[in-house]
Amino acid sequence: MAHSSEIRPGRFRRVSLHNESILIARDDGGKLTAFADVCLHRGSRLATSDEGDANAIRCPYHGWEYDAAGCLTHARLVPRQGSARLPRINLLEHSGLIFLAFDAQHHEDFGIALDEVFGSLGPFGLETLKVAERRVFPAHAAWPLFVQNFVECYHCYGAHELLRRSEAFIDLAENGEGRKIGQLDKATQLRAIDHGKPVMAIEPSSLSPILRAARTSTLTTDSETVDGNLIGTPLGGLPAGDRAFVYGFVGPLTHFTILPDQLVVFAFDPVASDRTDITVTWLVHQDTSLDEEQKANMVGFWARTLGEDIALTEAVQQNSNSRFMPKASFASLEHDAKIFTVWLNRHSHEANPQ
Ligand code: FES
Ligand SMILES: [Fe+2]
Repeated sequence: MAHSSEIRPGRFRRVSLHNESILIARDDGGKLTAFADVCLHRGSRLATSDEGDANAIRCPYHGWEYDAAGCLTHARLVPRQGSARLPRINLLEHSGLIFLAFDAQHHEDFGIALDEVFGSLGPFGLETLKVAERRVFPAHAAWPLFVQNFVECYHCYGAHELLRRSEAFIDLAENGEGRKIGQLDKATQLRAIDHGKPVMAIEPSSLSPILRAARTSTLTTDSETVDGNLIGTPLGGLPAGDRAFVYGFVGPLTHFTILPDQLVVFAFDPVASDRTDITVTWLVHQDTSLDEEQKANMVGFWARTLGEDIALTEAVQQNSNSRFMPKASFASLEHDAKIFTVWLNRHSHEANPQ
């Protein structure tokens, strides 16, 4: 939902998730807390802007005041009745990344998944990154259609010109040269060991009970930008031109890709049964400063590629009520999509995926 560097001590940041407005606040001692942006008096939103002073959160309606832990500190002209605080939202922080989870069970599973996935990505120095850009892409399609789309690349060969140019495995898979993909992955991992920065691959076989995976592959361009060039300092001190690349997901709603010079996070927010807002956040090394041209070079890659995915996904959504809708079948390149779909069918009674 956010990066640690975006919330300084004594500040809060407002985020949206599942149609809820949530405040993530950091007290002066550095502790982070997330709570509902819903006043305890008559339910007004508290934040009047997307960020502000966490030590003076004041409801605009009747002036009740809260501190950075979400505790009520002052209820104007109302006698105090013990302590009261805004409903807490589970918050997890790993490698500088802040995640929210609505229910406690997911919170626990999510913590394990974060350790497993991000624990292996230390060499990239993710905690030292900063947010370069964040954009919301609204789509008229249900969130599971996006997960199904994001966890397979069977569609990539025909759909994504830029992605096909940067990720060697797409053409190799199309041409039945799967063995070469393994060789490229192996070479990337050996190079990482040479640099003293091994990155463990977590295979998608560990996709249960909630999805988690991270794996290395090899880029054929220096980064995933419109022109294929790096836009900033390589992450974690890896040498320029290393072309290490990791794709992964933590829970069904948070996907990410680590490029040589960027971490790109895709967060799916199910805003309605047929609507998903996809928030894309680009993070770069803290020493990188981008001019408008470099920013366009960075953002343009996923703005175009995600736009292609949104069109593909909406075309399935438009048929979601068709009497002719087939029972989904999966090609071998859609292995992860199949695993996700089986998982989804088993858990479809759960209203709030995390
Ligand atoms: S609704 Fe917040 S003070 Fe009344
Ligand atoms: Fe795609």
